[in-house]
Amino acid sequence: MMSAAYKKLLFIVFALGASVVLLITLALYDVIKIEWISFMEVQASYKPMEAPLAVATSSIPIEGAAYIGGVGDIPNPIPADNISIERGRLLYSVTCIQCHGPDHDGKGNVGVALVNPPADLTSSKVQGKSDGSIFLTITNGVIGKTTVNGVSVDQIRMPALNENLTVRDRWDMVNFIRSLQAAADSATPTPQP
Ligand code: HEC
Repeated sequence: MMSAAYKKLLFIVFALGASVVLLITLALYDVIKIEWISFMEVQASYKPMEAPLAVATSSIPIEGAAYIGGVGDIPNPIPADNISIERGRLLYSVTCIQCHGPDHDGKGNVGVALVNPPADLTSSKVQGKSDGSIFLTITNGVIGKTTVNGVSVDQIRMPALNENLTVRDRWDMVNFIRSLQAAADSATPTPQP
């Protein structure tokens, strides 16, 4: 025969075991809410009414087709009319003049201080480039190479300006740069025989 004390102990052990099983069951069936780490709703995310997470820079084209280098030449969709050239001229005086200068020759206040001088935009080297190529230069800047402690590293020679200028702005800028060539041509006296 079991002693009364032993019976009592057995009962307590059984009762404890049963409650643990009951608790686990309730938790598993979400009657008792436990935020298991694996639940999607407790993972890092934004909830309704919270500000959406910032999207990685340049990951979504918001102005139509995005232009990528190395995919062939891109045609200029903006006619080089007076409005476009004037817009380009105004944008130039805000975004480019510091480096490329008021005379577009690369001798701006900042430009003259650069080890790697800005391009002369009226030069035949720049004017000989296609519209698409100039567009991509404004979009992506110019990345060169330099050597630091014997190691070759990227060097930003001209910053990418795609975040400061819309696609339309950049084409207006291309049209403006082109107009410099046209002005230079008409300023050059026609050689007389
Ligand atoms: C921080 C100075 C800086 C600013 C601002 C800047 N540039 Fe430049 N740009 C440079 C330098 C430096 C180079 C020469 C890079 C090289 O080829 O070494 C250059 C080169 C260029 C070239 C020739 C690229 C080639 O392929 O040879 C064009 C076109 C040009 N810039 C247009 C612009 C326009 C348009 C703007 C304004 C939207 C602008 N840049 C703003 C510094 C600047």
